Amino acid sequence: MAGYVVVGTQWGDEGKGKIVDVLAEKMDMVVRFQGGNNAGHTVVVNNEKTILHLLPSGILNENSLCVIGSGVVVDPFVLLEEIKILEERGLNVNHLRISDRAHIIMPYHIKLDILNEQRLENNKIGTTKRGIGPCYADKFSRIGLRISDLVDFDTFKERLKDILPIKNDQIVKLFNEEPFDYNELVESFEKIREKLLPMICDSVVLINDYISENKNVLFEGAQANMLDINYGTYPYVTSSSPTSAGVVEGAGVAPQCLNTIIGVVKAYSTRVGEGPFVTELLDEMGEHIRKVGAEYGATTGRPRRCGWLDLCVVKQACLINGLTDLVITKIDVLSNIDVLKVCIGYEIDGKIVDYIPASLKSYKNAKPIYKELPGWNEDISKIRTFNDLPENCKNYIDLIKDFTKTDIALVSVGPDRSNNIYIKNL
Ligand code: GDP
Ligand code: IMO
Ligand code: MG
Repeated sequence: MAGYVVVGTQWGDEGKGKIVDVLAEKMDMVVRFQGGNNAGHTVVVNNEKTILHLLPSGILNENSLCVIGSGVVVDPFVLLEEIKILEERGLNVNHLRISDRAHIIMPYHIKLDILNEQRLENNKIGTTKRGIGPCYADKFSRIGLRISDLVDFDTFKERLKDILPIKNDQIVKLFNEEPFDYNELVESFEKIREKLLPMICDSVVLINDYISENKNVLFEGAQANMLDINYGTYPYVTSSSPTSAGVVEGAGVAPQCLNTIIGVVKAYSTRVGEGPFVTELLDEMGEHIRKVGAEYGATTGRPRRCGWLDLCVVKQACLINGLTDLVITKIDVLSNIDVLKVCIGYEIDGKIVDYIPASLKSYKNAKPIYKELPGWNEDISKIRTFNDLPENCKNYIDLIKDFTKTDIALVSVGPDRSNNIYIKNL
């Protein structure tokens, strides 16, 4: 059995898309298992950039079947638009399948996401406003609609008749906004459902067949550990489990299928949206990293908050996900900085700890304990073997390995598919 998992170890945008694309070459299947089009995964091939929101990042590799799994929340309009963009570029997306159990992001979910954020004002989460939270909330309240309801459209219509008044009550009575019209909603879905039907399948059967045939299956995480609904900086999190545990639930596979669990670590930290960020740099250094690393959201275009690498965060991801390997990305961005700082602990109310407390109040007051390392000035983007890296860069990588007690399998030194230093055969 060869089940691979790629997850983010920080606050998202670590370069998961790039790494999935690199690994997709040897995969028979790539599966998204949670999240939705809040994700923005960038793949660069021969200078051509593709940003994927719902499509698995294996989609550029025609030989791997790509599956949108049961745990994903799907905005069908966004999905069709994404497919159209790729097809217009002459790319083939016939190798895409969508789980019939995935939940549908409805237009009222998007509206409620926006309205909830407005109501929270200064305490807003800073969501991507894609309807993710309201859709997952309805799923768990058992008033969601599923992709299978597009196959059996009578069920869609019947259930929407029951559900829409509940949603419209929220929109009209709580927010004093215009309700959604039942007939208009039905009509808009009627128009697109035919296009989706050929891709819809029972993904649990499909994925488990591949696994039992010993094929290589990669599970692609969106978001990251610190945005996890259970273990992130709640409530400044997303509404799903972007961890290896999320694979088991969201793809419908057994835990023992997952052999290689890869955590992607950006060589520094970034965060989009609100919430605590202990190593955040609000000075010129933060600006410098944002500029050199082009740290602007792939989904919303928002400037990403930048800071030093926080190894307490990465260590937490190692624990929760059972990471077998790490991939370090964007270390090329750290060239030409005299002294690099890496957070190896927090001082919280006079106590030194190296874990993330549940209380946001405590975490907001945490003072970072830094280890300082001398930097390097060489351009490392063309280097392809670990030994050719500058000594100080190797020391930086070794610190990550020693602190987390986890192997480094690959170091990414540029956005392109080819900009890699392979250390271990994955
Ligand atoms: P994801 O959400 O984890 O897939 O990451 P994003 O695509 O949102 O953000 C990562 C950004 O960094 C993208 O623009 C990538 O093209 C880029 N990137 C990935 N790896 C590297 C790297 O090693 N070096 C540099 N300079 N850029 C990278
Ligand atoms: P990828 O897969 C970075 C953040 C939002 C917000 C919080 C909740 O590209 O790494 P949501 O819309 O999910 O309810 O927003 O989570 N967020 C991300 N940040 N990368 C992402 O995805 C994210 N997806 C959601 O900014 O703070
Ligand atoms: Mg992203």
